[in-house]
Amino acid sequence: MSLERLLRLDGKVFAVTGAGQGIGRAVVRLFVEAGARVAAIDIAARGLEALAAEVPGITPYVCDISAEPQVEDCFARILGDHGKLHGIVHAAAIFPKRAFVTMTAAQWDELHAVNTRGSFLVLREAVKAIRPGGEGGAIVNVSSASGERALVHHNSAYGASKAALTNLTRSVAVEVGGDGIRVNAVLPGGVMTEGAAAATAKMAADGLATTGPIMAPGRLPLGRAAQPEEIAAACLFLAGPASAYITGQTLAVDGGFLVS
Ligand SMILES: NC(=O)c1ccc[n+]([C@@H]2O[C@H](COP(=O)([O-])OP(=O)(O)OC[C@H]3O[C@@H](n4cnc5c(N)ncnc54)[C@H](O)[C@@H]3O)[C@@H](O)[C@H]2O)c1
Repeated sequence: MSLERLLRLDGKVFAVTGAGQGIGRAVVRLFVEAGARVAAIDIAARGLEALAAEVPGITPYVCDISAEPQVEDCFARILGDHGKLHGIVHAAAIFPKRAFVTMTAAQWDELHAVNTRGSFLVLREAVKAIRPGGEGGAIVNVSSASGERALVHHNSAYGASKAALTNLTRSVAVEVGGDGIRVNAVLPGGVMTEGAAAATAKMAADGLATTGPIMAPGRLPLGRAAQPEEIAAACLFLAGPASAYITGQTLAVDGGFLVS
């Protein structure tokens, strides 16, 4: 295979969750450039509308990934519109920061409804949509280095949800490998996105410390947060022919935090 084709997605249909902003939006832009037809999924219509105006040819789907009927309907519509699906980048998640001891069970459940239950629903419907095409496929989960270690304070529910997603990545990879479907995850550290900026501002407003291990001297070898495009590049690698024999793996895109 030619060098260029290793990173091309021509003729492939990819869905992207959390497409309206941040990492998901960067993935949509890059995958379209790589030749894919992209189904862009998000709970918020506004971001999708802006993206559809900027990137002609993408198809937007408003869907709350925590709601089973919506997720089922969304993937049915994607198959109806595109005929088949070759893969997905699952980037939708929420990350409200809460002190562990004062967190309520309802707040815990609210986060896990999106990040854990939603991931299960998205992956299940994605596999069901990819499998009948008979061409195999690639699932890339945007998990987090927070699933391995605490990066910032007040992030326990989120870290637990990302540990679940990383583990789900391995379990599903084992189960669907026979269908030629690869399942991998990227583990970002800190990324400059709208969501991250809003979460940090909310922490400060709530009087929560915005520090954590990732800010400690020597813990971030590359010394800066990532741009969304740097996470999207890793997603493209794991989605395309360059990673054809890689499944069940995690790729930390964290500036070296996890090895420091
Ligand atoms: N930004 C970081 O520092 C960072 C670090 C590690 C991992 N991540 C992960 O990367 C992914 C993207 O993060 P981001 O920083 O781009 O976030 P973001 O908040 O900027 O974007 C997330 C998108 O997901 C959508 N979304 C939220 N809940 C949804 C739901 N129920 N159904 C459908 N869509 C929903 C939002 O509307 C938004 O458009 C997330 O999985 C996040 O956990 C981010």
